[in-house]
Amino acid sequence: MPTRPLDATAGRPKAPLPDEVTPLLGNRTPAQFMRRYWQKKPLLIRQAIPDIEAPLTRDELFNLADLDDVESRLITHFRKTWALEHGPFAPDELPPVKKREWTLLVQGVNLHDDRAHALMNRFRFIPDARLDDLMISYATDGGGVGAHFDSYDVFLLQVHGKRRWRIGAQRDLTLNPGLPLKVLQHFEPEEEWVLEPGDMLYLPPHIAHDGVAEGECMTCSIGFRAPSARELTGQFLYHLAERSTDADAAPALYRDPKQEPVAHPAQLPSLLVDRVGAILADVSWNEKDVASFLGSYLSEPKANVVFDPPNRPLNEQKFVGRIQKSGLRLDRKTILLYDKRSYFINGEAGIFDSKTKKWLAELADNRLLEAKRFVTLEDDSSMTALLHEWYRAGWIQVDACA
Ligand code: SIN
Ligand code: CO
Repeated sequence: MPTRPLDATAGRPKAPLPDEVTPLLGNRTPAQFMRRYWQKKPLLIRQAIPDIEAPLTRDELFNLADLDDVESRLITHFRKTWALEHGPFAPDELPPVKKREWTLLVQGVNLHDDRAHALMNRFRFIPDARLDDLMISYATDGGGVGAHFDSYDVFLLQVHGKRRWRIGAQRDLTLNPGLPLKVLQHFEPEEEWVLEPGDMLYLPPHIAHDGVAEGECMTCSIGFRAPSARELTGQFLYHLAERSTDADAAPALYRDPKQEPVAHPAQLPSLLVDRVGAILADVSWNEKDVASFLGSYLSEPKANVVFDPPNRPLNEQKFVGRIQKSGLRLDRKTILLYDKRSYFINGEAGIFDSKTKKWLAELADNRLLEAKRFVTLEDDSSMTALLHEWYRAGWIQVDACA
């Protein structure tokens, strides 16, 4: 019997188990959803979360959009003209809420708010390695971002007011040139629904869609990144080049003892091309390199993420005393992944030893260690030292419950 992943927000619903029927997926199990819909076709789910409340109020969302480390965009469609501005926005820089046809998009709300983080955790039947963030959009009547497509899998959860969604699986994804945002030149909707609070629409990448607010509304987008082959190749090659080498050894140099004098100095020597070709053909990698690249790359916080280390950190002894009583949890911003050999926390890799493997994997899956579990582990001084280091960096928080 698999154990259910906990989350660090006591009392809040958790992600369903793979074979658990859940209203979140329209009375399907995650296994059925993943088999039939994930990356394949859209699914409308009425009352995925009945009685839902917006994780943030309108004013709380506006206050978030005012912060430097929060990514926000304002999209207006006044007098039939699309315009885009990037935040931060002081609340009085936003258009009046009585004015029609504007929308504020705030990315990464899960990084800043426990309620949003808990909502996102309900989708942890999908691997964390695929998770991107929870975005909240606020729109006034008629507001939206235009018909477009995304390269993401997304769950569009209506949390306040109503939004009319139109979607289509068109092949022609040509964008309107000269606009500040991605709007399709031709949109051919095939289906249309009005979503009310608690309703949710799942869209795989590249499905054309357009959501227009009917009155004031708020929508949460739980997005899953699908890095392109191009991005992965570039990042992987960089990772390979940086792969640890013997730091004391002299770096291997290109050598050309057979170079002859030339009369055309600007011409690229064919010897150079051949030799560099041979050096590149020698580059090799294995499954370990791929896993270590993915773990580090996918656990890297986004560029705008700033951790908040404690102002007056407890020393290690007091820290241990505190978690003996109340446990610990990963900070909302921390990404902790693992494979069979290593763990990856916020872009840094560490190798498991026989002791660390079990508790670290548990901490990563549950995002918390309860006090009673910690008490069984605390004899391991390397563990307490590591946790204390993460606590001082603001990567973990004392107290298992937020
Ligand atoms: C929105 O919530 O306004 C836009 C979300 C999307 O279409 O991806
Ligand atoms: Co979209």
